[in-house]
Amino acid sequence: MVKVTYISTDGTETDMDVAEGTSLMQAAVSSGLDGVIGECGGSAMCATCHVYVDASFLEKLPAIDDMEEEMLECTSSDRRPTSRLSCQIESNSDIDGIRVTFPETQV
Ligand code: FES
Repeated sequence: MVKVTYISTDGTETDMDVAEGTSLMQAAVSSGLDGVIGECGGSAMCATCHVYVDASFLEKLPAIDDMEEEMLECTSSDRRPTSRLSCQIESNSDIDGIRVTFPETQV
């Protein structure tokens, strides 16, 4: 299990143990967290799973591919240098302790 902390816009932190191989979007949606929607089911086609990743974890994530890059241009909330699609972040031991913050809005 990988520890992930989700931070909502009001600062509320939710710690979760996420099974390896599960995306951070899937874990958040299946736990009923309000911050992500995940409309396309994780195909990098909707940008409703946008999160801001704690900068210290950015280097541990896979590079942004073309599809994710395109979707990050369509996020409802501002794109920042730490923006990623949470459906493209698969939980694994390298990112144990990762903290992600939900944006103001997803749609
Ligand atoms: S769930 Fe649609 S882009 Fe991530």
